[in-house]
Amino acid sequence: MKIDEKTLIEYAKRAMKKSYSPYSGFSVGAALLTSGGKIYSGCNIENASFTPTVCAERTAFFNAVSNGEKNFSAIAVVGGKKGEIIEYCPPCGVCRQVMREFCSDDFEIILFDGKSVKKFRLEDILPFSFKPENLE
Ligand code: THU
Repeated sequence: MKIDEKTLIEYAKRAMKKSYSPYSGFSVGAALLTSGGKIYSGCNIENASFTPTVCAERTAFFNAVSNGEKNFSAIAVVGGKKGEIIEYCPPCGVCRQVMREFCSDDFEIILFDGKSVKKFRLEDILPFSFKPENLE
């Protein structure tokens, strides 16, 4: 089955409901699509000690990689305060760097603000990046 962006956003919305975010009150959900057509989800998971907090995007990536996946084509991300999606939730810098580890320039980032979809290529949101090839 070919996964379309609407389906991926639906999975991200479902993951957002699992968010553990008692400190910020900001819930985020991500749905990561593998090149083989599988979806791995993640939510943000906060911590009383703050720094161990992990974003939804990284939870999705680590979920996928720990299940043997290394090739990805797109990620959908939604988020908002009180579980409401009223603005786009752009991936933080750390998550962009994690995307760069596994994904090529044309990896697609799909954002949804509750009404409209915005799509970016990884290269557009993380230009001139440090990548695995730099260590070869
Ligand atoms: N957060 C994400 O999950 N993804 C992002 O790209 C931005 C921020 C989370 C981390 C924290 O739990 C909450 O949103 C507020 O920063």
